[in-house]
Amino acid sequence: MCGITGYIGSKNAYDIIINGLQRLEYRGYDSAGLVLYDNNDINVTKTKGKVSDLIAKTTNTTGQLGLGHTRWATHGEPNDVNSHPHTSNSGNLVIVHNGIIENYDTIKKELQNRGYTFHSDTDTEVLINLIEEVQQQNGVKLGKAVQIALNQVIGAYAIAVFDKRKPDEIIVARLGSPIAIGIGKDFEEYFVASDASPFIEYTKNAIYLDDEEMAIIRVGRKVKIRNIHDDTLVDANVQKLKMNLEQIEKGGYEHFMLKEIHEQPHAIFDTYRGRLLRNEGIIKMTGVEDNMKKFLNADRITIVACGTSWHAGLVAEYVFEEFARVPVEVEYASEFRYRNPIISEKDVVIAISQSGETADTLAAIKLAKEKGAFVFGVCNVVGSSIARETHAGAYTHAGPEIGVASTKAFTTQITVLSLIALRLARAKGTMSSSVFRMYLQELQLIPKKVEKLLEIDNHVKDIAKEYLLSTNCLYLGRGYNFPVALEGALKLKEISYIHAEGYPAAEMKHGPIALIDDRMPVIVIATGKRHYEKVVSNIQEIKSRKGKIIALITEGDTTVREIADHVIEIPDCEEPFSPLLTTIPLQLLSYYIAVMRNCNVDQPRNLAKSVTVE
Ligand code: F6R
Repeated sequence: MCGITGYIGSKNAYDIIINGLQRLEYRGYDSAGLVLYDNNDINVTKTKGKVSDLIAKTTNTTGQLGLGHTRWATHGEPNDVNSHPHTSNSGNLVIVHNGIIENYDTIKKELQNRGYTFHSDTDTEVLINLIEEVQQQNGVKLGKAVQIALNQVIGAYAIAVFDKRKPDEIIVARLGSPIAIGIGKDFEEYFVASDASPFIEYTKNAIYLDDEEMAIIRVGRKVKIRNIHDDTLVDANVQKLKMNLEQIEKGGYEHFMLKEIHEQPHAIFDTYRGRLLRNEGIIKMTGVEDNMKKFLNADRITIVACGTSWHAGLVAEYVFEEFARVPVEVEYASEFRYRNPIISEKDVVIAISQSGETADTLAAIKLAKEKGAFVFGVCNVVGSSIARETHAGAYTHAGPEIGVASTKAFTTQITVLSLIALRLARAKGTMSSSVFRMYLQELQLIPKKVEKLLEIDNHVKDIAKEYLLSTNCLYLGRGYNFPVALEGALKLKEISYIHAEGYPAAEMKHGPIALIDDRMPVIVIATGKRHYEKVVSNIQEIKSRKGKIIALITEGDTTVREIADHVIEIPDCEEPFSPLLTTIPLQLLSYYIAVMRNCNVDQPRNLAKSVTVE
């Protein structure tokens, strides 16, 4: 959480930093701040609120060195004082930080005993003063002082620091939170950011620091990277960025979320492109092929993930078990990591994460590796921590997802996982070649069907109008669409703040039915063929208690149409792939309800896109 940006070179740092912060606002947006070096001094501006509030507050915008920060509060409430950057007591050092220093209280007391004073409640202010204390006590350069200080802290961090007495240098370091360095032409300028989006128009050359690494960035020189703990020099791995500016802009849509919902036909296509080879009748995925033995010898597959990615894992459980007849367990990464799970070298663990930075998922991966499991990553962000930490993996290729509520990441995760399940099914012989070919064909039809579904935009908007004042909402689904019910409920609550719950439809009578009255909208996914009659009975039960029914039905279904208050038609498809379709109107419904309630759709309160803290 929190976004960091920085610049050193000959351009005006303010524009680059502000632009960058706006792109990083998805990471946290309860306060923002920046520091600029100008005229031998530093000017810090910070404020509770968004980057737009920071722009309004900033008076001095000159300087060719600076750092910026957009915050998702951990220590200390969101207010002006707790906002970053933080300066040291002498006023010489300045820092922006993403992460948590767990032992900050002990360090703070020690520093207070030595006469340091603190203005904020943050762990970050403690860290910058610790760096200052180390610098003063040891008479070392800033880089060394940062290194010594970081060896004393417990926690997670991505930091950027500079010293106003040495304005040709920025020090950055990471442990558990991402940081990228953009390299300007001839090393004449450098960019620093939590991801590459802030500097994409300036350079395509970037270095992603690994955990426990720090970099000394000096204008006119190559970046020097060291391991923070053992002090060894590390070779800089310069990567060519593939992202382009268009991908991270709204492209005419009112919100990133809407843009990303509409990108799904293309994103799903990109996910199977080059992997699903229908003419040859095969699926080719290098990460799976290279490790086929591990998959085939596994006693079971354990999936670890959080939030929406966990929902994709639940869909995968149904698909893997059906196609490849392999037992699957799906675990919240946050639970898995702390419960001494029974995992051995016979296990395959699949970690799913859009950002590739989620702290709990990362910790679950490390634990699974320690226990000898083979860990396979399904990530969207290329080069992310999870992508690097796993033994092998498959990217979703959804393109940057900026809206905080996950949309295209979910459908592309399901696509990748379905491809893997199909591939394993063939390798294990649990699926005949004709059925396999039929599924390949079906999967290729999905982008067109999603496109068609997106045309019902206005119909969903009309339904949204009727329910925007609801305070509660139930989502019901069965089989492959039970996880979609969970996902639909999560989307609604996170962006519109309406309380919503998802249930397997048959569970309704075990409790939730008590909630149904004439003010309760119930969204029922009634597309499945396997449990169709049973779901229809559930709809009758809701109807007789005067609940309002919004039903997702297969095109042409007249039975449910007669009972439901509203219907949304879903193109017919093979049931295992139906989540790729049923999800779409649920995303649109929450989007329109949230917009009509004047909620900030792309940046819902209290949330952040990338959860790099526990
Ligand atoms: C919900 C949402 C979150 C994320 C979760 C995991 O819309 O976006 O629930 O799915 O924080 O994030 P990743 O997939 O980046 O590990």
